[in-house]
Amino acid sequence: MRILSGIQPSGTLHLGNYFGMMKPAIELQEKGEAYYFIADYHSMTTLFDPAERRRNSLDVALDFLACGLDPKKAVFFRQSDVPEVCELTWILGTLTPMGLLERCTSYKDKIAKGIPVNFGLFAYPVLMAADILIYDSNIVPVGQDQKQHVEITRDIAIKFNEQYGETFVIPEPQIRGETAKVLGTDGEKMSKSCGNTVEIFGDEKTLRKKVMAIKMDSRTPQELKPDADQNLAIQLMKVVAPADVAKDSEDRLRAGGLGYGDLKKGLFEHYWNYFAAARARRAELAANMDYVHQVLRDGATKARNKAGEVLDRARKASGLALQPEKG
Ligand code: ADP
Ligand code: TRP
Repeated sequence: MRILSGIQPSGTLHLGNYFGMMKPAIELQEKGEAYYFIADYHSMTTLFDPAERRRNSLDVALDFLACGLDPKKAVFFRQSDVPEVCELTWILGTLTPMGLLERCTSYKDKIAKGIPVNFGLFAYPVLMAADILIYDSNIVPVGQDQKQHVEITRDIAIKFNEQYGETFVIPEPQIRGETAKVLGTDGEKMSKSCGNTVEIFGDEKTLRKKVMAIKMDSRTPQELKPDADQNLAIQLMKVVAPADVAKDSEDRLRAGGLGYGDLKKGLFEHYWNYFAAARARRAELAANMDYVHQVLRDGATKARNKAGEVLDRARKASGLALQPEKG
C-alpha cells in the first residue's frame, strides 16, 4: 500500500499543521510505503519570494525530520526534484474539463477574497492529481479542505483510464476527523493566514508571549466556570499535556480558583516540554544540513524512479511514445 501526502512550504509550521497533518503522517509511515513531499511547485501559486521559498522548504524538511519522519521508512523529497510531475500535469490537463476546475472551492475562495488568480492557481488541482497519480498512490491522507482535490484526481484518473486504457491506480482519500482541528489563539481555526498561530519551533520568548496572549474572557479566578471544557487554553492543553493533567486543569478551572494567567503558564510549560526532544533533534539537524540535503536527494532519486515508470506508462497509453506497449 502506498500512502502519499504533501505540504506547501508557504510559512512556518504551527500546532495545527503538526496535530492535523504531520503527526498522523509520521504515524502512517509504519503502515505502508509512505511518500511525503514538500509541495514547492504548489507554493509558487501564492508565494513569490525566492529566498522565502528556499528557507521555508528547508524549514519544513527540518521540522518533519525533527518530529520523527524516518527517511529509512518514508520517501521524503521536494516536489520540484521530480519534474516529471509537470509533464504529467500537462497530459492530465488535456482531459480535465474546465467546469471541474471552475467548481473548486479553494479557487473560488481566492476569487471571493479578491486575491488575483493566475493560471497556476487554476491548474493547481491538476498538478495535485499528477502528484498523486505519478506514484501509484493508494491512500492520500488529507484534511477536509483537500478532499475535493482528491475527488478530482479520481475523476481525472478514471477518465484517462477510459480514454487510453488502464493506466492509473485510483486513489482513496483518507480524511482526518474534525477532532484534528486545532484552534488558534483567537479561538478560530489555527491558520497562518489568520495570524493566530503558535509555531512548533521558534524562539522561546516569542512563543511564550503568544501563548500568554490566548484570548480569555473577563471572569475572575474565583468564579465557577461550567463551560471550562470550551476554554481555549484547556482545549490546547488536551493536545499537548497528558490526559490526567489536562483533566485536572479543567476541573480546577470549572470549580473556580485557577486563574487564566496560571492556566496559560501551565499550558506553555506542557507545550514547551512536548516538543523538547524534537527541538533538540532539530538543532542537531540544523547543524548538519549536509545530512538534510542528502535525505532529500535520496528521496528524490527513489521518487523519480517510480515517477518515471508511471509517466512512461501514460506516454505509451496516450500515444506520445512512438512504440506502443507490447502485449
Ligand atoms: P494554513 O491554514 O496554516 O495555511 P495549510 O493550509 O498549509 O495551513 O495546511 C497544511 C496542512 O495542515 C493541511 O493538511 C491542513 O489540513 C493541516 N492544518 C492546517 N491548519 C490546521 C488546524 N488548525 N488544525 C488541523 N489541521 C490543520
Ligand atoms: N494542496 C495540498 C495542501 O495545500 C498540498 C498538496 C500538494 C498535496 N499536492 C498534494 C496533498 C498531493 C496531498 C497529495 O495542503
